[in-house]
Amino acid sequence: MEPVRAVKGMNDVLPAEMPAWHLVEERFRALAEAYSYREVRTPVVEPTALFARSIGETTDIVEKEMYSFVDKGDEALTLRPEGTASSVRAYIQHSAWAEGPVTRWYYLGPMYRRERPQKGRYRQFYQLGVEVYGDPGPHVDAEMIDMAVRLLEGLGIRRVTVELNSLGGPGTRVAYRDALSGFLSPSREALCPDCRRRLEHNPLRVLDCKVPTCRQIAAGAPRITDHLTAEDRSHLDGLRRMLDRLGTPHVLEPRLVRGLDYYTRTLFEIKEEGGELGSQNTLVGGGRYDGLVESLGGPPTAAIGFAAGIERLVLSLPDGSANPIRPAVSVVSTGSATLDPAVVAARDLRLGGIATDIDTRGSSLKSQLRRSDKLGARFALIVGEDELSRGRAALRDLGTKEQVEVPLSKPEIVDAVRTAMEKTT
Ligand code: HAM
Repeated sequence: MEPVRAVKGMNDVLPAEMPAWHLVEERFRALAEAYSYREVRTPVVEPTALFARSIGETTDIVEKEMYSFVDKGDEALTLRPEGTASSVRAYIQHSAWAEGPVTRWYYLGPMYRRERPQKGRYRQFYQLGVEVYGDPGPHVDAEMIDMAVRLLEGLGIRRVTVELNSLGGPGTRVAYRDALSGFLSPSREALCPDCRRRLEHNPLRVLDCKVPTCRQIAAGAPRITDHLTAEDRSHLDGLRRMLDRLGTPHVLEPRLVRGLDYYTRTLFEIKEEGGELGSQNTLVGGGRYDGLVESLGGPPTAAIGFAAGIERLVLSLPDGSANPIRPAVSVVSTGSATLDPAVVAARDLRLGGIATDIDTRGSSLKSQLRRSDKLGARFALIVGEDELSRGRAALRDLGTKEQVEVPLSKPEIVDAVRTAMEKTT
């Protein structure tokens, strides 16, 4: 029979890859908590309307990429393509604003987009992200961008560029949209079919098209930064000043647009230079969305956030960043008479906080010792009949091959192994 395979673009992450994943996740958690963020977990499935109303009806994500279905109760549901919409829904549903004027949430989890899979782009991928509600910026904008850069730096990902833009408030966007439509309309026929449609509904998206002729046409387009109001401009200037003060280099990229419609003012992406990700080198994307909470039924609330793809961060880690997990001790029994006490000793070591492996199948001594080496254990605890009769076992350092006798009783065994571990480190 043909074995069943995983869905295209959805990956298994096998144990050998996990140390790198854990490194990224643990660094992120620690950093987010140091910045006063608290974790939120929302469902993977949400009402389809949530994403249509937030990400935008005419975005690629909503038009083409969502995993949507009608469940047995006739509800239109969607696997979340990103975390911001769910987070805003939860913020409103639980009246989180009542707990204080500023709310800082972080999250980690799988997201789903039916994109064309390639390196760094998958149909199920994991994001880590943060959102701040209730602070209109610009200091928090700078703090957040700086935090993202420090996260990457802490992971050893140093060759990055921060691209920054401002979309202005809703008024600016409307004026810019008109200016852009006016500029693009005469070239309508030369645009790709997608962009001809975008021109009607969402001309800003033309700036993000990858088709060469569209890029060429878009290159001469008016810049949104020339349409900013005085308030938008001073917000952007304030953000840049604070970034300078925090020592975070950045470039203004007036053509930066992103694939989600909820953004206002600050928009940013952090790209890796010269890594192996090729065209999928955007590690972090984020921005301000001051109108979204209100438009989804909450009180007017300024908001900003970012998300990063965990697979991309893992691919960008320098070689040797994460160490394979190894047991400290491998418990070895010399025959059927010593297997019972060996299993007890392994349990006692484990509960004493010492990572311990044991082959419980009653394999030969030779094969058990081979396994100890293969797992990279530092010590073998050899439970032999002779030593056992005296209530003891042999602790062998698998590096130096030195061997000492240790008591098998609890807690002496844990203390003895700890002492040996301290000696060798
Ligand atoms: P996004 O730019 O769509 O923004 O995604 C953020 C990051 O998720 C990307 O920079 C990339 O690293 C990763 N990513 C996106 N799609 C894929 C994919 N198909 N495969 C692998 N990785 C992917 C958002 O999702 C916004 N919610 C960010 C945000 C938070 N804005 C405000 N708050």
